[in-house]
Amino acid sequence: MAGMLCVALLLTSLIWTAGSAGDGRRQQQLTAVPPRGWNSYDSFSWIIDEAAFLDNARIMANRLLPHGYQYAVIDFLWYRRIAAGSGVGAYGFDSMDQWGRPYPDPQRFPSGRGGGGFRPIADKVHAMGFKFGIHLMNGISTQAVNANTPILDVRTGKAYVENGRQWRARDIGLTHRTCAWMPKGFMSVNTDLGAGRAFLRSLYRQYVDWGVDFIKLDCIFGTDYSPKEIVAVSEILKELERPVVLSISPGTAVTPALAENITQHVDMYRVTGDDWDSWKDVRPHFDVARSFAAANKIGAPGLRGRSWPDLDMLPFGWLTDAGANQGPHRTTSLTFDEQTTQMVLWSMAKSPLMYGGDLRHLDDRTFNLITHPTLLKINHHTRNNMEFGYIHSERASKPDEQSGRSKSGYPVDVTNNGGMVVGLGTCSDKSASGWHSSSEDRICRSHGIQNGNTSFCISKAKLLPTSDGVTLSSEEDQAKFHLAGIDTDDGCLDASVSPWRTSSASQTPMFSACEWHAKQVWELTENGQLVSSYSGLCATMRSSKEGENETTAARAWTAIGDKGEIYVAIVNLDSASRKITVSVRDLEKVVGRKLARCTCTEVWSRNRWSLMKGGISAVVASHGSMLFEIQC
Ligand SMILES: *[C@@H]1O[C@H](CO)[C@@H](O)[C@H](O)[C@H]1NC(C)=O
Ligand SMILES: *[C@@H]1O[C@H](CO)[C@@H](O)[C@H](O)[C@H]1NC(C)=O
Ligand SMILES: *[C@@H]1O[C@H](CO)[C@@H](O)[C@H](O)[C@H]1NC(C)=O
Repeated sequence: MAGMLCVALLLTSLIWTAGSAGDGRRQQQLTAVPPRGWNSYDSFSWIIDEAAFLDNARIMANRLLPHGYQYAVIDFLWYRRIAAGSGVGAYGFDSMDQWGRPYPDPQRFPSGRGGGGFRPIADKVHAMGFKFGIHLMNGISTQAVNANTPILDVRTGKAYVENGRQWRARDIGLTHRTCAWMPKGFMSVNTDLGAGRAFLRSLYRQYVDWGVDFIKLDCIFGTDYSPKEIVAVSEILKELERPVVLSISPGTAVTPALAENITQHVDMYRVTGDDWDSWKDVRPHFDVARSFAAANKIGAPGLRGRSWPDLDMLPFGWLTDAGANQGPHRTTSLTFDEQTTQMVLWSMAKSPLMYGGDLRHLDDRTFNLITHPTLLKINHHTRNNMEFGYIHSERASKPDEQSGRSKSGYPVDVTNNGGMVVGLGTCSDKSASGWHSSSEDRICRSHGIQNGNTSFCISKAKLLPTSDGVTLSSEEDQAKFHLAGIDTDDGCLDASVSPWRTSSASQTPMFSACEWHAKQVWELTENGQLVSSYSGLCATMRSSKEGENETTAARAWTAIGDKGEIYVAIVNLDSASRKITVSVRDLEKVVGRKLARCTCTEVWSRNRWSLMKGGISAVVASHGSMLFEIQC
């Protein structure tokens, strides 16, 4: 064991040396392969402390680091005090320094009391041979804005001065752009201002001084899309001599079109909503992963390396619940078949692998799954990863009513509308157009139902006055409005999604109490698009049944290994077992070579399969998978 660890440490440090070298060519190595690591969120929500983190880090160093799990990440709210009334939606419990920058909660992270922040922890992590990461919320904290803290100019070590005056937090915080799902916590920063950029620079300079290697920046992507701020942070990270991996989230409503303008500025980006341990959450990843593979986004150029569509953490083993004020207390709800299927997709799609369970309770079966040599090889060392569309499948049993079926997503369920749902997408989506004013105060969208057309309407309401009493006067803002539900007390249509809601609850409408917030402000374009002022995403309308029919209940993925070996995974998404068939002829077309004489081994069972008889055909259990390795 000691010998193995030694070799692994040596390998890791070689990779790292390449990444941290000064010249540009070698820096390309920073994220040459999808990052792997451990993240505290699935097991600790926000309440992790130093002792629990270091316990996990030690186990990670011994057991996971030899398998390439390199980054140990403390997830959100590490600056928040644990006290009565505190929690993810609370205000006033955050520790910060004189410059308005979050500081590790001294109760939970006592080693930071001396003023070194996370440096003592980062030093320990580095001494164990791996990398240290933290989660951040986009922008500036509401507490800093209310306290109107001065902004540190890192070039002078003094307060930031421009045009003869000192700038402060209130000058840069955008109060109408608070994070939609943590409105009391954080708000966007005006990056057009030198002072706004100076603030961000002061944050990241400090994190790098602490020894941070990885930043997970939240409330900046997906339904919280803020491209200007993503680019601003990326530019600031590029100025720093120490390479930092930039990971952005959340991933709700993310499509290749939304990711198009930012992938080169980051190293990994979430492409789905929060993934928890329920099949409903796992299933939609198949469609998203397919679209990113087809758009050639897997391993596209990124910040100081490549960028990787991120399917989110692996919620296996010993966990907590979304947004809870509680640490790990329960085992994963996924069956072992479902966990295996999740690992197969994450590996075939080359997603970053971030284990989420408490490592102090890592059982052998889970350990063997997340370190499976074939899966890890596929995850790092394959190319041409894509969904393989030419499969045939049919049900081999009755559906199992116990297993989850519905898909997740965050649509407004438009009841009595023929199963149509309102969601969010990029404005170039076909389903985003077709909105029109049907009267002075109504915005409607017609859609076909079985016999004829019907309309879904929302009522157009004037914007409420802003919370700080500012009224909108510019012509641009006159064109903007709230959208309220008709004949309901539903409130206003909301363009963001709380990650605390479980994905089944998220099927309920996105209406929330009307308030002055960019997430509830909409504009109707001449092209019939309803654009959210918060994220720039458009309201879409499509059938809730889309993508859920028989023909999509079985999937296959293919990838080519670095020795020319071919991997084929077949997966059954159905709630009943299915017989799935892949013909060798179709496979040959995709991989571009004859396969009849090759050897084919199913990885889980180690059984040999003959490719002479024309195909691979097998009954796969509900939510199960099979993985084939073909050597020629
Ligand atoms: C990407 O940038 C182009 C050019 O600036 C712009 O037209 C397009 O709307 C952007 N896409 C998104 C999703 O923001
Ligand atoms: C439904 O509306 C579309 C678009 O407005 C129109 O082309 C179509 O003919 C309508 N169908 C029926 C049955 O009214
Ligand atoms: C099933 O889904 C596929 C792919 O999305 C689609 O082409 C097909 O028309 C759908 N079939 C039915 C019966 O809805």
